[in-house]
Amino acid sequence: MRAVVIDEGGLRLDERPDPVPGDTELLIEVRAAGLNGADMLQRRGGYPSPPGVPADIPGLELAGEVIAVGHQVTRFSPGERVMGIVGGGAQAERCVIDESHALGVPEGLGWSEAGGFPETFCTAFDALFSQAALGAGERLLVTGAAGGVGTAAVQLAHAAGAVVVASVRDERSRGALVPLGADEVIGPDEVPARGPYEVVLELVGAASVPAALGALATGGRVVVIGIGSGGEVQFHLGQLMALRARISGSTLRARDRTAKAVVVEAVRRHVVPNLAAGRLRVPVAETFGLDEAERAYERFAAGGKVGKIVLVAR
Ligand SMILES: NC(=O)c1ccc[n+]([C@@H]2O[C@H](COP(=O)([O-])OP(=O)(O)OC[C@H]3O[C@@H](n4cnc5c(N)ncnc54)[C@H](OP(=O)(O)O)[C@@H]3O)[C@@H](O)[C@H]2O)c1
Repeated sequence: MRAVVIDEGGLRLDERPDPVPGDTELLIEVRAAGLNGADMLQRRGGYPSPPGVPADIPGLELAGEVIAVGHQVTRFSPGERVMGIVGGGAQAERCVIDESHALGVPEGLGWSEAGGFPETFCTAFDALFSQAALGAGERLLVTGAAGGVGTAAVQLAHAAGAVVVASVRDERSRGALVPLGADEVIGPDEVPARGPYEVVLELVGAASVPAALGALATGGRVVVIGIGSGGEVQFHLGQLMALRARISGSTLRARDRTAKAVVVEAVRRHVVPNLAAGRLRVPVAETFGLDEAERAYERFAAGGKVGKIVLVAR
């Protein structure tokens, strides 16, 4: 098979043997694989793959057809359309995925949307509801809201009845957030004035956290998911005490098989039906072929996009 391979910070298409599915795994003919911030980091040597996945083939999410299954697989059969999360290796013509990390692709959903769905919607759903316990009527701030995770979070929170404030730095992207369910779209410098927020989904990191903390409501929860602008901030612990506030953080990739399966199962039950019904969508800013991975990564890193960049089989 052909695979995108990281080679001393560059990307090239290389021939690799097809992966062999383990007992609980599916072998997938990959039709689409979304890009994520983690791929940019891994390419620079900053985010090594967990054990058991290819060390130099990036890609955390995919959609495609099942072409073979392991002995203990019970939920999927060859020929089915699936999408899901992997620890790496998705940016290739074939990839293996544990069946508990895979979801059926709703009828009518295109490959590029399906390939850009799993990592971002799993991350956003887990952060908003499992970690922050976002409730209907609560005021949510999503920072970096125009990206893959942000556009997922805005839609999920709107569907759950929250009041969604989307912070977007690129003015050209702001208009896209209202149709996705944002009640207010603001620039990062407006964050303090538009508070207080019961929940903050922090997708930007150090450049954004101090303003968000300063505008937190009593009992507020901050969930840190992205630290692209830096990971070190200084604040007075008394701020948390006075507000009875909580800050938490998480990553999806580092979780064990069972913990990932719990997230995927929650998304299967609570999110996929809304995707199938057209109440949620995956905004895809641009697609590239596997042989255009270098350009795709440049596009991702350049910013100013709404939603996902996805590699597709052509
Ligand atoms: N913890 C996890 O499990 C997990 C899972 C998925 C993603 N992540 C992380 O979460 C973050 C968001 O992911 P994503 O896929 O949504 O990335 P993305 O598509 O690149 O979106 C990031 C958004 O943040 C904005 N942004 C970046 N730096 C900013 C700054 N200094 N000030 C204001 N806005 C800024 C970007 O704006 P521009 O377009 O103007 O650059 C973009 O709209 C990334 O850091 C990613 O690595 C974590």
